[in-house]
Amino acid sequence: MIKVRRATVADTATISRLLDNYSSIGRLLPRTREEIVERLSSFFVSEQDSVVTGCVSLEVFTSELGEIRSLAVEPNFLKSGNGSSLVKNLENEAMRLGLQRLIALTYVPDFFRKLGFEITPMNSLPEKVFGVCVNCPKFNNCDEIAMVKHIEENNGKHQS
Ligand SMILES: CC(C)(COP(=O)(O)OP(=O)(O)OC[C@H]1O[C@@H](n2cnc3c(N)ncnc32)[C@H](O)[C@@H]1OP(=O)(O)O)[C@@H](O)C(=O)NCCC(=O)NCCS
Repeated sequence: MIKVRRATVADTATISRLLDNYSSIGRLLPRTREEIVERLSSFFVSEQDSVVTGCVSLEVFTSELGEIRSLAVEPNFLKSGNGSSLVKNLENEAMRLGLQRLIALTYVPDFFRKLGFEITPMNSLPEKVFGVCVNCPKFNNCDEIAMVKHIEENNGKHQS
């Protein structure tokens, strides 16, 4: 049974470790503990049997656009539904906030395609997204795939 809940200060070290697993091999952008704490209210974690198994955060760019960031699942718990539960929960949160579109910049397009996301040209994304990209070490040779999902009332409703 996977439960998704809002992150608390007590989750900071676990989130940091989860992200380090993948940022150390170039799969995610690194985030310091300070950044995680500053943005704690945007983070959710998944749990199985009270063990934290994954995390995700929602970055709001405009009054209609949000981005899925820092999505990471504990290696021992991959392919057991944590990633999709986290994304569906974030869709509910985006809907609650009144956003209309969610994007992800990713190396795992097939995972997002299964959740109803579609590939979109990188240059269709607003300047603010590029504002973040400018700080990325891969800015000049980005190999991530941009994906988007339009959020509707009956999309992705999920227990949280
Ligand atoms: C991508 C990631 C979050 C997926 O998490 P997960 O818990 O294994 O995903 P789920 O178990 O919910 O999988 C949901 C579906 O996607 C599929 N899937 C999972 N990972 C996949 C991948 N890398 N490529 C293609 N399909 C994948 C699963 O097989 C499953 O398919 P099914 O519904 O037909 O059974 C996880 O692999 C991860 O943390 N990766 C490293 C960090 C990363 O790339 N994050 C995304 C940044 S945008």
